[in-house]
Amino acid sequence: MTHRKQPYSLSKLPDSILKRGSEASKLLEEHLEKGSIIRVISHNDADGLSAAGVVARAISSRNGQFHISILSRLRKEFIKKLGREKYSLFFFCDMGSAYLEEISRLKADIIVADHHQPSEFEADSNVVHVNPHLHGLDGSRDLSASGAAYLATRNISRNTGQLALVGALGDMQYSDGFTGANRFIMDEAIEAGVLQVHSDLKLASRYTEPLYRSIAYTFNPPLPGLTGDIEASKGFLERIGVSYGIKYADISPEEKDILRDELSRINPDIFGEVFTSREFQPAVGDLSDFAGILDACGKNRKYGIGIGLCLGEGEGALEVGLELQKNYREELIRGLAWIRREGSTVMENIQYIYSEDRVFKGIMGTIASISLSLKLLNPDIPLLGLSRMDQHVKVSARTTRPAVERGVNLGAALRDAASSFGGTGGGHDIAAGAMVPYRDMESFLQLVDEITGAQIKS
Ligand code: C5P
Ligand code: C5P
Repeated sequence: MTHRKQPYSLSKLPDSILKRGSEASKLLEEHLEKGSIIRVISHNDADGLSAAGVVARAISSRNGQFHISILSRLRKEFIKKLGREKYSLFFFCDMGSAYLEEISRLKADIIVADHHQPSEFEADSNVVHVNPHLHGLDGSRDLSASGAAYLATRNISRNTGQLALVGALGDMQYSDGFTGANRFIMDEAIEAGVLQVHSDLKLASRYTEPLYRSIAYTFNPPLPGLTGDIEASKGFLERIGVSYGIKYADISPEEKDILRDELSRINPDIFGEVFTSREFQPAVGDLSDFAGILDACGKNRKYGIGIGLCLGEGEGALEVGLELQKNYREELIRGLAWIRREGSTVMENIQYIYSEDRVFKGIMGTIASISLSLKLLNPDIPLLGLSRMDQHVKVSARTTRPAVERGVNLGAALRDAASSFGGTGGGHDIAAGAMVPYRDMESFLQLVDEITGAQIKS
């Protein structure tokens, strides 16, 4: 059964963001006509990798050339280094909005397609800045970086909307439907024939894993009691009499009905819109699965594999991607078990978890999110995940939509608190990060606690 909501009316999307996107496309077009090699810089998560994929595909559609660098974060020194490169167009994705001043100084044309809260600095005339926050849209819900990249290249190629939504799914922007510009992109992708939407159970890896693993690996929407717990998933399937050793895609219609009823009892959101693209092989044809594989590629620094998958490269890349995902999921399950065991330390307005285990460093943000959505920890209190890195502490903070509605803005809290200790921080209201000196960890936590308290009261 195909399932579509009302088309998102063009008039509901601010015209100004489409205009800004068109300016970016025009600039890119001019450079492609001159034969410039486009320098693309993007982030190492699913959204960043798919954003780079969107841009690379647009460039390839004009037989142009690109040189991509994938980074965990943008540093001022890196921007300085770019200043010594001879490229005439730099295309920043999923980063750059907080560094407009430094970026503006590059003696080249620049496109920034980002969705983070931007700095106050007005970009210079050499910069075309595509960011939802500049147009009254919410960068943690209405548009991801890959969506911003889609809008920035839309006049060159409209065949990449499905990839833009891979990034949005990776950044957890889907909740009970796509909103804002994501909705607009969804409709354009359906029109372009690159996206199919149908109603089904939103289970992970339905084409590649046995059902009990699919259920245990379904992190979003969460299935409390089953998510992250392979034995519990097996037990559940045995209890309801559904064969657990075969793939969801292969079970009988009767079993699918039983499963739907039983899982909906645990979380009604488990049944709903599923996004697929026939353009990709089945294992990544489900866009949420695609996002999961890209995340695993990013966490393991296999950026070439991730970009290759976005460009539609074959079996070899997929095999590696699936293997990386397997390991990554095992790490997530270990991380969640650790949180279940240890719990968090609760302050007045925030709670935190702390680890010196190097494995957790890369997954802290993800397990923090999941532990709130699974209610392993109290979802009413913003959560900071702290990982020791020699002399520094890496911070990943997550909260929930209701807490944001009460005034919490983790991006602002972490930016301000980190800057008091010579660190850096920022991000979105609902998800943010920071790096601070280890010796200041206690004082940093106190300050974030105070700032968050003030945000809720004001
Ligand atoms: O750098 P970037 O903006 O892509 O990272 C956003 C982070 O915020 C992602 O790790 C994403 O999973 C997280 N997020 C979240 N909950 C939301 C929205 C985003 O945990 N509702
Ligand atoms: O690292 P993590 O996934 O927790 O980051 C969450 C969000 O905070 C991302 O959007 C990231 O780009 C942002 N962030 C930031 N400055 C930092 C660390 C993270 O803006 N120093």
